[in-house]
Amino acid sequence: MGLEAIETEWNELSNEFAALEETSNEYGELLEKLESLQQKCMKDISHQRYRISQISSNLKKYVSSNVTTSDEKDQVADLEKNIIKRKAQLYDIDQTLPQKNGTYLNIILGNVNVSILNRKSKYQYKDDYEKFKLILNGIGLFMAILNLSHNSRILELAFIFLLVWYYCTLTIRESILKVNGSRIKGWWRTHHFISTACAGVLLIWPQGEPWQLFRHQFMYFNAYISMVQFLQFRYQRGVLYRLKALGERHDMDITIEGFHSWMWRGLSFLLPFLFAGYVFQAYNSYALYKLSSHPDAPWQVSVLSLLFFILFVGNFCTTLSVIPEKIRTRVKEHYRLCAIAKLKEKEG
Ligand code: COA
Repeated sequence: MGLEAIETEWNELSNEFAALEETSNEYGELLEKLESLQQKCMKDISHQRYRISQISSNLKKYVSSNVTTSDEKDQVADLEKNIIKRKAQLYDIDQTLPQKNGTYLNIILGNVNVSILNRKSKYQYKDDYEKFKLILNGIGLFMAILNLSHNSRILELAFIFLLVWYYCTLTIRESILKVNGSRIKGWWRTHHFISTACAGVLLIWPQGEPWQLFRHQFMYFNAYISMVQFLQFRYQRGVLYRLKALGERHDMDITIEGFHSWMWRGLSFLLPFLFAGYVFQAYNSYALYKLSSHPDAPWQVSVLSLLFFILFVGNFCTTLSVIPEKIRTRVKEHYRLCAIAKLKEKEG
């Protein structure tokens, strides 16, 4: 190839680069505009929330200090309904804006933004999280059964190390989900922090008679929990898919009613297995408490007994509170689902 031909190619490429520069400038301008729109939305949301809190408190004061007629009662009920609806709409708008990381994420990830602004990607991330749990529970079940059939220290340590890593990873993923608007309760995240600590203590529990006495029970417990987690996966994934599908039918009320009846059926199937798991946790705590009086028992035994007891109480109370809470917040939930369905319609 001659020098002239190379020069011509270079000039062609330079022309293409000029076009790229133009696109990049346009992209930069759009980014700036996007940032300023995000700031404006955030400011307007704060304003709306502040005004809603003022209006709500004025409404409460008015109702408590006046005798209301039936017309006024209807007016108050309408206003209250609109306030709930507006809060759900604001929550939904807020979910499309970047959020600040919590302290835990800031410590482990540094100052990096983990907000997912796109609704579809949010669903995907959550779906991924559920799949991750499913796969790791499958491996966990396999390892627990293997440990029941083989008494090998290396296998034991590999399994317990897997548990440390699994629970640690869950805490990170759940913190990211939280930043992205998940309503996951604080207890479930705390539960996974405590489970990480439990697995850590198990890892350094020295070999000896007390461990051999508890070993089998612990493996059975893990096998049972893995199976319960599989049922949990079916329920959580079902909820996720139904939420995603909302809005695809014309009568939104029927779809939401369908969602609720499916959810209650799913819950009533799952709850007995969950409570049996909590009884198992309480039994672990009791067995370890008894074991702590063994002459060779190391400090790990009493610490684990306490941790299992905390897990039992926290799990039991939190799961028990789910049912009345779901009944209580039904109206709020209805508007949240309506907002999701409407957005889905818009996106579709
Ligand atoms: N782990 C992780 N996320 C959880 C969770 C858990 N244990 N329980 C609920 N969530 C999430 C839900 O997926 C939902 O997320 P989203 O806002 O991103 O959609 C959010 O928290 C709110 O869920 P909520 O409506 O309160 O409950 P639910 O109907 O999804 O689930 C239970 C209710 C009781 C089935 C569920 O909390 C559960 O499975 N708990 C038992 C967990 C347990 O005990 N594990 C140990 C086994 S012994």
